[in-house]
Amino acid sequence: MNAVKIRGKILFLAGMLIALGGGWVGFPHAIYRSRPQPVDFSHQVHADKAGAKCDDCHAFRADGTFAGIPGLDKCAGCHAAPMGATAAEKNFIEQYVTPNREPEWASYARQPENVYFPHLAHVKRGQIACETCHGDEGAANTLRPYQQDRISGYSRDIWKIGATRAGKPMGHGMKMADCVDCHRRQGLAHSCLDCHK
Ligand code: HEC
Ligand code: HEC
Ligand code: HEC
Ligand code: HEC
Ligand code: HEC
Repeated sequence: MNAVKIRGKILFLAGMLIALGGGWVGFPHAIYRSRPQPVDFSHQVHADKAGAKCDDCHAFRADGTFAGIPGLDKCAGCHAAPMGATAAEKNFIEQYVTPNREPEWASYARQPENVYFPHLAHVKRGQIACETCHGDEGAANTLRPYQQDRISGYSRDIWKIGATRAGKPMGHGMKMADCVDCHRRQGLAHSCLDCHK
């Protein structure tokens, strides 16, 4: 092999590595829009310092439906006046509690409109722990940015199999295949219309 050919091969390989690397890093930026959550909320602080339990904020209503993300009324009782001295709390009070403005939380797990997911069946009847599906979200000290698929408008957690999620257990997002896999393992018979409306 002469020197010119070897040089050509090296250049080709280098070019390929750059293209691959660029794609690996750049692709998620190209297809997902990232935005921070409105408030610097910490699940850990509320468990440790306020002794709050999950269902103090994420309760089931009397009709069995799940209240989901709590409204400002759940926070205002404790935060009408500052409980600590953190900037995060000061900002929260100034921007939301005092003007009585609801934070526009983004839900990582939110499914498309055509999906029916009842928490009651899973949490109460199925006795499945929150962590099985949500990972450690409910114990974290910070809220990660919300990533939205630019084309579908859906949360990254439920949409597209990210290269970075391959092989990870559930709790790092939930796609149709995750629902169907668990139902199959539990021996549940289901038709498309059980989950789709
Ligand atoms: C003091 C109120 C409060 C308590 C107590 C609380 N949470 Fe939350 N939780 C929130 C708020 C506010 C959000 C909205 C942040 C967001 O958009 O993810 C949230 C979001 C979540 C989410 C993300 C849902 C999504 O789709 O984005 C999960 C999962 C969750 N909480 C689980 C838990 C678990 C598990 C516990 C108990 C260990 C718990 N939470 C206790 C207030 C609370
Ligand atoms: C049961 C009382 C209670 C409720 C209800 C409550 N908080 Fe808190 N919150 C606390 C305490 C206690 C702290 C810690 C204060 C300190 O020592 O700095 C705190 C801290 C915070 C902070 C500062 C974050 C940090 O990392 O310290 C923010 C922001 C906050 N809360 C937002 C919220 C929001 C949003 C809700 C409603 C979804 C809420 N809180 C509901 C008691 C409460
Ligand atoms: C079997 C899986 C599973 C379990 C178990 C589960 N969740 Fe969820 N959770 C989901 C799915 C799927 C969604 C999206 C629902 C939708 O879009 O209709 C969701 C949404 C949420 C949301 C956001 C709701 C909203 O308004 O967008 C919160 C908060 C939440 N779950 C908290 C919890 C808590 C707290 C527990 C434990 C008590 C729990 N989840 C147990 C799968 C699960
Ligand atoms: C970790 C396991 C698991 C996952 C993940 C899971 N499910 Fe289920 N699901 C169950 C079990 C167990 C039941 C039966 C509960 C019972 O009635 O005893 C169930 C029941 C249901 C039912 C029937 C509810 C009723 O009222 O009869 C629907 C609808 C459903 N799941 C939708 C979903 C959807 C949509 C997803 C994904 C977003 C999902 N499930 C993910 C375990 C799971
Ligand atoms: C156990 C629950 C479950 C069952 C059963 C199920 N799906 Fe789904 N499906 C989902 C969830 C959750 C999503 C959204 C997340 C995703 O796209 O992975 C979805 C997404 C879809 C989408 C894309 C929807 C969109 O808005 O882009 C199609 C199409 C679809 N399902 C068709 C079907 C068909 C056809 C069947 C029957 C063979 C079926 N599904 C059975 C849970 C289910």
